[in-house]
Amino acid sequence: MYSSPELDPQSKPRFYARLARETEALLADEHNQVANAANFAALVWQHVPSINWCGFYFFDGQELVVGPFQGRPACVRIALRQGVCGTAAATLETQLVADVHAVAGHIACDAASRSELVVPLRHDDGSLLGVWDVDAPVPGRFDAEDRQGMEKLAEVFLASLRCSARDGVVGSQRSIHSK
Ligand code: SME
Repeated sequence: MYSSPELDPQSKPRFYARLARETEALLADEHNQVANAANFAALVWQHVPSINWCGFYFFDGQELVVGPFQGRPACVRIALRQGVCGTAAATLETQLVADVHAVAGHIACDAASRSELVVPLRHDDGSLLGVWDVDAPVPGRFDAEDRQGMEKLAEVFLASLRCSARDGVVGSQRSIHSK
């Protein structure tokens, strides 16, 4: 059972460093993308204050499709270059939006969202895996420290998906079943 520590959000660098360690510990024994994305979103939702949505959109080869998240039900598909998520996916650059009302093309899944931070996620070969999206109900919620912290957390998530010796066992089981 996961038991949650108290994380003090006063010093953001320290807060994100501790949350990164918590994330590593939570995801360490699993490499499944959906499982780790679900627990990652739940952990961020539990610890990061003043947010109203956090979750994943994964690239299906054509567009972004919503993945595990916390918050209100969201739009399912987002085209590349559309909205803040589609821009992060197309440019492969983190998007930090202080006021979503000032962004033409912003997609309002939840009318309460006022600021947004979207981190692109890449496979090891550099290709697009998807984006990690965090929304807040107040303008200017995210700053450069949040950006750095969320990028670090996203790296921890990506690292958790990589193969390890354990996958060798899973791989050999798979080949037995495929006979
Ligand atoms: N606001 C995002 C869409 C996703 S939701 O906020 C969950 C955007 O403009 O890309």
